[in-house]
Amino acid sequence: MELKNKKILLGVTGGIAAYKAPEICSLLCKQGANVKVIMTETAKQFVSKLTFQTMSRNLVYTDMFEEYPQNAEISHISLAKWADIFVIAPASANSIAKFANGISDNLLSATFLAARSPVMIVPAMNTFMLNNPATEANMNTLKERGIAILATQSDLLACNDVGNGKMLEPTEIVEEIDNRLRKKDLLGKNVLVTAGPTIEAIDPVRYLTNYSSGKMGYALAEEAEKRGANVTLISGPTAIKKPKVSKFISVVSSLDMYQAVLENFVNADIVIKAAAPADYRPKVYHSQKIKKEIGGEFKIEFERNPDILKSVAAKKRHQFMVGFAAESENELANAMTKLTAKNLDMIIVNNIKAENAGFQSDTNVVTIIDKHKNIENIEEMTKIELAKLILDKIKKAVAF
Ligand code: CTP
Repeated sequence: MELKNKKILLGVTGGIAAYKAPEICSLLCKQGANVKVIMTETAKQFVSKLTFQTMSRNLVYTDMFEEYPQNAEISHISLAKWADIFVIAPASANSIAKFANGISDNLLSATFLAARSPVMIVPAMNTFMLNNPATEANMNTLKERGIAILATQSDLLACNDVGNGKMLEPTEIVEEIDNRLRKKDLLGKNVLVTAGPTIEAIDPVRYLTNYSSGKMGYALAEEAEKRGANVTLISGPTAIKKPKVSKFISVVSSLDMYQAVLENFVNADIVIKAAAPADYRPKVYHSQKIKKEIGGEFKIEFERNPDILKSVAAKKRHQFMVGFAAESENELANAMTKLTAKNLDMIIVNNIKAENAGFQSDTNVVTIIDKHKNIENIEEMTKIELAKLILDKIKKAVAF
């Protein structure tokens, strides 16, 4: 997450959705952000100052003229200056109207006017207030001035009306904040990622596969997209949540994955093959369910699937190619062989038998080898952290 040590100013206005604002504060703090909260007078009707103070472990600001200890400066100016991002959640129709018109009659609206960081508004209000031309015009004015305004959700609202106006969930808001604070160092780059296992069918009920969960590939795809890349994720069947990427292609067999990679390879700037495609498929697919023969042995004959990475690497022009090596012994020697044989720029090797590493695990312990055969051992970390680190290394190695 990009939230660690980030200074986040959270403005809370008066509306029923204010009861969710402490959760936003809590999620941000749990991820290491430093959160300061400004509440309007009406926000205090819905949620207490003490709640935010306890969660943020910071003073909560409510009054333009109160003298806050440790802060001899003018609050609205110093808070505006302090923030890396200013988020107003929930933002009521009244506060949005003030923001759009430069009214600065309370600490929150004055701080808004003095803001110098990116500002994000998370509206929450009744559908009719939201759709009122006055609110629409105010929101358009703010958008034109470069202020981010998040969408609302449609649901049964607290006032019993059904429609748009419900505030986004705290987790989604925190994700948006994280996204906005993230460096966009892969902006406009086309990144092709493969992930997960493949399935090789034997008959209509049986198949062969492997333990790959797709977690490493999905983490890489999601992180690259957050950094501004246009990610195409080609995924075998997985049981995990599909990440937000520009293009998601679902495949089943290694041959399907091969086809999809060939179709999407030419435009790619970076290719990351985190998938574990099956090397073999049954020679014959039985279109009817195979019946068991009493006492009989059952044998399957296999034929080779294409080595996807090797075949696309042979067509490589400007692409930066990254492979993975799943090994259970002689990791380094085997990975070095794959690096050369598959014409790669980087290979990430892990011992699938190691603790807290490899398939299924949320963490990984890897060694990264570059094309000059420089070896770097990476300590155990989550696959999300590792995805960031791998992309940092790729970014450093590629001369964009
Ligand atoms: N790979 C591929 N096509 C295959 C098999 C593997 O593109 N049919 C890619 C994987 O996505 C990975 C790299 O090749 O990036 C290494 O995969 P791995 O399973 O470690 O090794 P293999 O090349 O299959 O070799 P072996 O099974 O002999 O270890």
